[in-house]
Amino acid sequence: MNASPVSRRLNVVTGAFGYTGRHVARRLLSMGERVKTLTSRSASESPFGDRVEVEPLAFDDPDALARSLEGAETLYNTYWVRFPLGSTTFDSAVANSRTLIDAAGRAGVRRIVHVSITNASTRSPLPYFRGKAMVEDAVTGSGIEWAIVRPTLVFGEGDVLLNNIAWAARRFPFFPIPGSGLYGVRPVFVGDVAAIAVDAGSRSDNLLVDAVGPETFTFEKLVQLVAERVGARTKTLRFRPAAALFLSRIVGQLVRDEVLTREEIEGLMNGLLVSDGPTTGQTRLSDWLQENAETLGRRYASEIRRHYTSSDSPA
Ligand SMILES: NC(=O)c1ccc[n+]([C@@H]2O[C@H](COP(=O)([O-])OP(=O)(O)OC[C@H]3O[C@@H](n4cnc5c(N)ncnc54)[C@H](OP(=O)(O)O)[C@@H]3O)[C@@H](O)[C@H]2O)c1
Repeated sequence: MNASPVSRRLNVVTGAFGYTGRHVARRLLSMGERVKTLTSRSASESPFGDRVEVEPLAFDDPDALARSLEGAETLYNTYWVRFPLGSTTFDSAVANSRTLIDAAGRAGVRRIVHVSITNASTRSPLPYFRGKAMVEDAVTGSGIEWAIVRPTLVFGEGDVLLNNIAWAARRFPFFPIPGSGLYGVRPVFVGDVAAIAVDAGSRSDNLLVDAVGPETFTFEKLVQLVAERVGARTKTLRFRPAAALFLSRIVGQLVRDEVLTREEIEGLMNGLLVSDGPTTGQTRLSDWLQENAETLGRRYASEIRRHYTSSDSPA
């Protein structure tokens, strides 16, 4: 069916060949919308063939960035960095995000749907969560219509963290749990995050919404559930957080990646990946694990390979 001219509005998605952005782009395309991505990746890496236009996410050339946003109705922004490495820092990610938002304003973009994180706060001692809040402030202060979508831990095709929990559970006799393991996680399905984002894009009110799933687990139960579903016999063992970090770094040496950062452990232990808000994504992790048990964690998903060296396809 041919899409009508009205439905061919241009949507720009940062990171449409990545994880969350890929699902946002997929959903927009399925609705007959026109999609352009801004990314450091090349068009040859597109999972969408030539259905998604590709331009660089040119933070070093704000005028070019503004030109690449011209004519866009909505900007779906997933850009962020998971941890600092080399010249990439959380401060540079905040500065880059501000450059992007400013370019969107100059290009006349009608609406920004910005993907943030639950419990982002400018008062957070954790630079990831503080930086995300600073970018939220840039979005809400931009003068552009906005929606901020704040996911908890995101699971689904292309995920890193849960995939690597399954990967470790399949290989090692024990899984180190930082601290008590009793802190909560309320995971949300990536397809639900995309649906929430695209729905937010179709509105015209300013909106702040947590993207949260229907199930809350303690972190230890989450690891045990993943292990059980993939048929792994690993046992969870509680460690002091510093010791758990040390062990994750040993594994990191083997796979040449940052498996888990100190900050991620602190975020988890401080309950920042839960929300008391209503369920906004209906997919249950326990069901999804059942359906994806065969493939989850068969291969390690490397953040460094994805973003600092050659490309990595979703796990
Ligand atoms: N994954 C989760 O569990 C989770 C949970 C809560 C919130 N979030 C938020 O959701 C958003 C999307 O996360 P995601 O996991 O789906 O990320 P992603 O697809 O891996 O990356 C999203 C975007 O950020 C860019 N990017 C990532 N790391 C980078 C680096 N080191 N240097 C330069 N560019 C980098 C990617 O660039 P390329 O297009 O060039 O690859 C892409 O444009 C982020 O804002 C994140 O804070 C994620």
